[in-house]
Amino acid sequence: MTSPQDEPPAGDGRAPGDPPGHDAADALALETIEVDLFVEALHRRYGYDFRDYSRASLTRRVRNLVTSLNLATISDLTTRLLHQPGRIAEVISGLSVPVSEFFRDPSVFLTLKEKVFPHLASYPQINVWQAGCAHGEEIYSLAILLSEAGLYERTRIFATDISKSALARAREGIFPLREAPDAARRYLAAGGAHSFSAYYHARYDLMKLDERLISRVTFAEHNLVTDGVFCEAHLILCRNVLIYFTTPLQDRVLARFAESLVRGGFLCVGTRENLEFSPARTQFQLVDANAQLYRLRTGAPGGPRNPVPEPFNPRRPER
Ligand SMILES: C[S@@+](CC[C@H](N)C(=O)[O-])C[C@H]1O[C@@H](n2cnc3c(N)ncnc32)[C@H](O)[C@@H]1O
Repeated sequence: MTSPQDEPPAGDGRAPGDPPGHDAADALALETIEVDLFVEALHRRYGYDFRDYSRASLTRRVRNLVTSLNLATISDLTTRLLHQPGRIAEVISGLSVPVSEFFRDPSVFLTLKEKVFPHLASYPQINVWQAGCAHGEEIYSLAILLSEAGLYERTRIFATDISKSALARAREGIFPLREAPDAARRYLAAGGAHSFSAYYHARYDLMKLDERLISRVTFAEHNLVTDGVFCEAHLILCRNVLIYFTTPLQDRVLARFAESLVRGGFLCVGTRENLEFSPARTQFQLVDANAQLYRLRTGAPGGPRNPVPEPFNPRRPER
């Protein structure tokens, strides 16, 4: 028989007598506390509210941030956050996942072109809001298709994100040239009518988008968790953002989208996201399941103001 004093020291903070295998569970419990404190500090000190983000993916991003900043623990990150306000943008940038691509899911863009543009075409002034625009690839893709449909000049595009650094990149309209071949393929699959290369100038290993495409896009900081209704939109594009939120937060954001849309306005969420189990579902009708495209019902209480007209569809003259 051994007494606890006889046992070799665990050497890892484990108390003598703790069963083997306890370490991992202990480390996990400690990490949970550290992430909780980090999220609380971020909220109380700066008003950024990540409390309703899905914990698993948020924890991964916090861990990555700790590694990329060469810190030892999440608590070190929290200390830095609390005492160095100048570094908040860096932290938000590290927590956001600004991954996107031109004409991501080309069939979605084709659906927008075929099922949404005809409605927008009858509207004298079109407002599009993209929430969670990352580096702008998707909104520039939409701008290209709107331009080819002759709608761009009467469209105002608001592209928003929580991350200042992502927005700064998006505003520049400069992307790695190596992305062009795949983008060109997806552009054609999305119903593009010309050549993707007509929309940028290549310089060394970069492509700079045509200024005209950038000219009607207003990039702005907006936090879907804490900020209010953004504009009276005819189309809201919010893809691959809700996936990072817990269900109650998704519901709150969807309710906000319903308030931001004109009656009959369209909402497109990511192909892995849907409204099926949300209370907001009753306010929307499904237009296309593959594209996760919805339309605010005309009688929906949230929807204000000027409905999106039905497409102009002249009857054939009868013989
Ligand atoms: C994976 S990207 C999606 C980009 C693009 N919509 C797409 O599908 O290709 C997610 C974006 O959502 C942004 N985001 C995360 N939380 C947000 C919030 N609370 N408010 C606004 N944007 C947010 C991130 O900064 C990131 O740029």
